[in-house]
Amino acid sequence: MTFYPKTEGRPDNGVANTLAYQKGRPGSLVVGSEEHKELFCRFFIDTHIIFDPAAIKWPELDEGSLKLLHSLPVWTEAMETERMGTCTIQSCATLETDPLIREAVTLLAQEEARHAATIQGLTTRYGIPLPDLPPPQPPVDAEWEFLRFGYSECFDAFFTCALFAIARDSGLVPRPLVETFEPVIQEEARHVLFFVNWEAYHQARSPFWQRPARLGRGALERVLQAQKRLRAALGARSNKDFTMKSHQAITKEITPRRFLELCLAENARRLDRYDARLLRPRLVPTIAKALCHVLR
Ligand SMILES: [Fe+2]
Ligand SMILES: [Fe+2]
Repeated sequence: MTFYPKTEGRPDNGVANTLAYQKGRPGSLVVGSEEHKELFCRFFIDTHIIFDPAAIKWPELDEGSLKLLHSLPVWTEAMETERMGTCTIQSCATLETDPLIREAVTLLAQEEARHAATIQGLTTRYGIPLPDLPPPQPPVDAEWEFLRFGYSECFDAFFTCALFAIARDSGLVPRPLVETFEPVIQEEARHVLFFVNWEAYHQARSPFWQRPARLGRGALERVLQAQKRLRAALGARSNKDFTMKSHQAITKEITPRRFLELCLAENARRLDRYDARLLRPRLVPTIAKALCHVLR
């Protein structure tokens, strides 16, 4: 049976729910203001959808689909990422003094935890072996790790949205599995939107003497994440990046430029449904647009 997300006292699965958030003009909000905080937290809390990974009815798959799932070299790293992300975000939530932001960040941790549970459910159902992973240790500097995780999601979600579209539209992945993962992919795009606004809010609210250090940390993390993807793309190291590995496994017949155009289109489509006043991720789309100009 196909699994569909359900809502709790809400009219739809989160897509219709976003319609209430389409108001507002870009740039009409003061970043760091109470209004900004209310908007990015409320958008996140109100568009949360309810689903239980344990209730997913995983479909029967034919041999070809099973082979494809087994061949994707992403499951262990995806599991590690979701588990570590959950632990990091939970630690960050306990440090947060603002009740509304804490509520939103706690919800973010819950969503990452159920991503891990969804991957666990899939790998168990289809017999994909996973190593015994040690429980993730809470980070020493939770905020710094959250920054790292957030910027890493900015890159990963950008590419994952396009990979998912290819898997969906090519028929490579069976329809019931696509429908099962649709809310997870939308959540990742939504996480990026929340993170970008969370970071800009904290940056704007931090005392002016702390801003250079905060800006520097953010810039450094962006550079490190960009460098990591670039090196993976160039094959300069043993490829451990799971987005790149998925890309290599799924998109053998698409040019890099066409793939980047698809990334831009899919990300815009997934984020367009939210209030236009919220800040949008800019770095990765800007790099992608620049690459589209130089790639054939
Ligand atoms: Fe996740
Ligand atoms: Fe996420």
